[in-house]
Amino acid sequence: MIDIKNITKSFGLLKVLKGIDLHIDKGEVVSIVGPSGAGKTTLLQIIGTLDRPDSGEVIVDGIDTNRLSTKKLSDFRILHIGFVFQFHQLLPEFTAIENIMIPAYIAGLSQKQARKRAEELLDFMGLADRATHKPNELSGGEKQRVAVARALVNNPAVILADEPSGSLDTKNKEELHQLFFDLRDKFGQTFVIVTHDEGLASITDRTIHLRDGLIETPIIPQIPEEECSPLETTTPSESSSL
Ligand SMILES: Nc1ncnc2c1ncn2[C@@H]1O[C@H](COP(=O)(O)OP(=O)(O)O)[C@@H](O)[C@H]1O
Ligand SMILES: [Mg+2]
Repeated sequence: MIDIKNITKSFGLLKVLKGIDLHIDKGEVVSIVGPSGAGKTTLLQIIGTLDRPDSGEVIVDGIDTNRLSTKKLSDFRILHIGFVFQFHQLLPEFTAIENIMIPAYIAGLSQKQARKRAEELLDFMGLADRATHKPNELSGGEKQRVAVARALVNNPAVILADEPSGSLDTKNKEELHQLFFDLRDKFGQTFVIVTHDEGLASITDRTIHLRDGLIETPIIPQIPEEECSPLETTTPSESSSL
């Protein structure tokens, strides 16, 4: 579903991504964690074709996105990628259902088709009775679920979520996380989620740790048998300083 090969990205002199390789299968729910400034948002934006890497390949749904012109890229994005952000970013002057319909219009669906699809999604989210509410008439959790419905409206290959539950209380947070897994189980939806929430990271299929522009590979200490004696007190740092 997603193949990232040796991605690098700098902003001026700051090297943010230093060679990222990542493969994500259809139906996987993958979390990306790491300290602030590690490059998580930059990586997500590059996977989502909102930004281009300096070098490396980004293949989404079998398409090498580096080869697409800027115009083709925006068509590609609307059809293949759904975004969910920390703050819902719904348009305040439109109702919940209209917000969900907008990307479907842009993708070329008729008003009738777009409305039908949006209604199905609102139903699935348990928000049918909120369809004609504007964002300021919805709770934080409801707004985030409408934002997820909007991301889903064109059946994207992947949903990219950047700290989607970062502004929710515990109950709404847990409901949103459950929704991701329900969507995966029911529709095989693929998710890549940047999160600081350890609870969410621990239940995803895989967690990618990003640090200093690289994916950290967990180091499993391998202690040779002869060093396992309880009398052995030399620590690795001591022995390396010899
Ligand atoms: N458009 C930009 N221009 C300059 N610097 C940027 C830009 N976007 C991000 N950065 C810098 O790149 C680094 C990584 O940012 P980001 O990907 O947002 O990190 P994270 O999401 O892990 O907190 C930070 O030091 C940030 O200030
Ligand atoms: Mg970020």
